[in-house]
Amino acid sequence: NHEATFAMVKPDGLKNLGGILELIENEGFVVSDAKMTLLSREHAALFYQEHDRRSFFGELLEYITSGPVVALELMRSNAVSEWRKLLGPTDAAKAIQDAPHSVRAKFGTDKTNNAAHGSDSPEAAARELNFFFGNDQNKSDRGAF
Ligand code: CMP
Repeated sequence: NHEATFAMVKPDGLKNLGGILELIENEGFVVSDAKMTLLSREHAALFYQEHDRRSFFGELLEYITSGPVVALELMRSNAVSEWRKLLGPTDAAKAIQDAPHSVRAKFGTDKTNNAAHGSDSPEAAARELNFFFGNDQNKSDRGAF
């Protein structure tokens, strides 16, 4: 099941971009697209709209707009679940206990500053890839930007 997923290196993860890409490549993913951008508050709210009624939404928007992010399209077999596995649990403190070799254990700090994002389903991956890269074959449609 060769498929694509969406990954995003978050503002706190950027200083470890090289280390994160190394883990990604070592797990057999191919990076098939990449884009560095600074999200506006509006784009961030749209990207995280499923969380808009959560208590941490304001904190999440402040954080994700605090510096540049790197959006990645990753390809491999079972890319969605394999990237979630490599990422580890949302809370980096928990990741250190439960998944010490994961991206969040190695490079994250807590629930908010957790180094990177991964789509949680193939449907979310399609939506999030379209948001950042557009869904056009030749990518002339640049998505939300
Ligand atoms: P991510 O996988 O990018 O998508 C939703 C984000 O919400 C998640 O990473 C966390 O960074 C953030 N998040 C989830 N739960 C909490 C929480 N309890 N407090 C703060 N941030 C959270």
